[in-house]
Amino acid sequence: MSTLALINNKGGVGKTTTAVHLADGLARTGARVLLVDLDAQASASLALGVEREDLEPSIATALYDDQPIGTVTREAPGADVDLVPGSESLKSADIRLAQEYGRERLLQRLLEPAAERYDHVILDCPPSLSLLPINSIVAADWFLVPVEPHYLSLEGVGSLLDTVEDVRTGIGEAADLLGLVVTRADFRAKATQQVIDLLREEHGEAVFDTVIRGNVRLSEATSFGVSVFEHAPQSTGADGYRSLTDEVLERLSARTPNPPAAAVR
Ligand SMILES: Nc1ncnc2c1ncn2[C@@H]1O[C@H](COP(=O)(O)OP(=O)(O)O)[C@@H](O)[C@H]1O
Ligand SMILES: [Mg+2]
Repeated sequence: MSTLALINNKGGVGKTTTAVHLADGLARTGARVLLVDLDAQASASLALGVEREDLEPSIATALYDDQPIGTVTREAPGADVDLVPGSESLKSADIRLAQEYGRERLLQRLLEPAAERYDHVILDCPPSLSLLPINSIVAADWFLVPVEPHYLSLEGVGSLLDTVEDVRTGIGEAADLLGLVVTRADFRAKATQQVIDLLREEHGEAVFDTVIRGNVRLSEATSFGVSVFEHAPQSTGADGYRSLTDEVLERLSARTPNPPAAAVR
C-alpha cells in the first residue's frame, strides 16, 4: 500500500482536484483506493457527490472520538473509491487535538488498518501547515505538491519543502517528495512557460512531465459530483489527469523497493 498526501499551504492551487482525480484515476486501473478529506471545506467529499448535510460522520469523528477509520468510511457516490469525508468540525482540530499525546501521529495510527484493505490512500489537506497537514506528512509515504505556474508560487515551494524537512527532523518521520505537479496552466499567459522552466531548473526531475492545464470541464465535473473521467472523458482535463495517474504509478513502482526476499538460513 502507498499513502500519498496532497500538500500546499496555498489555497486554490489544485490540491483537491488532484486528490479526487488521482483517487478516481487509480481506481480506474483496478486499484482499491481510499480518499481521506482533511479539509473543513470538504471540497473533495462534495466533488465526489456527498451532500453537504451528509458529511458526518467525518474524519473529525474518528480523530476526536477515537473511532476506527472503518466506522467513518463510506463508498463515494461519484466514483469507485472509498471516502472518509471532511466536515466543518475540522475547523477546531488544532484546538481539540492540541493536548493529545502524540498529536502528530493520530492520523498515522488511525490509518494502520487501511494498509490491508487498500492499494492507495490519498490524503487531501487543507491550505495550511497546521496540525492536520503535519499529521498527513507524518502518515504518508509520499507527498505531491500541486503548483500554479505563477512567479509567486516558486518561493512558496521552497519553504514548503523546508517545512517537511523540519517535520522529519522534529518528529523523526515524514513523507518523501513524489513530485511537483504544475496545475491550472494557461499558456496564453507569457509567464506560464517561464515559471515552468524555472521550476524545472530548480527542482529538476521532481517536476512531473505532465502539466495540468486550466480546463473548465474540471470545475464543472466538481459541481456534478463526479470526476472529469465521467463528466468529460475526452477533455484536456481528463487527458492531463490520466497522464498524471500513469506517471504517479511509474514513480511509485520505480521507488518502492521490492519486498525483501525471505531470509535464507
Ligand atoms: N486545472 C484546472 N482547470 C480549471 N479549474 C481548476 C483546475 N484545477 C482546479 N480548478 C478549480 O479551481 C478551484 C480551486 O481548486 P482546488 O482543487 O479546490 O484547489 P485547492 O484544493 O488547492 O484549494 C476549484 O474551483 C477547482 O474547480
Ligand atoms: Mg482543497
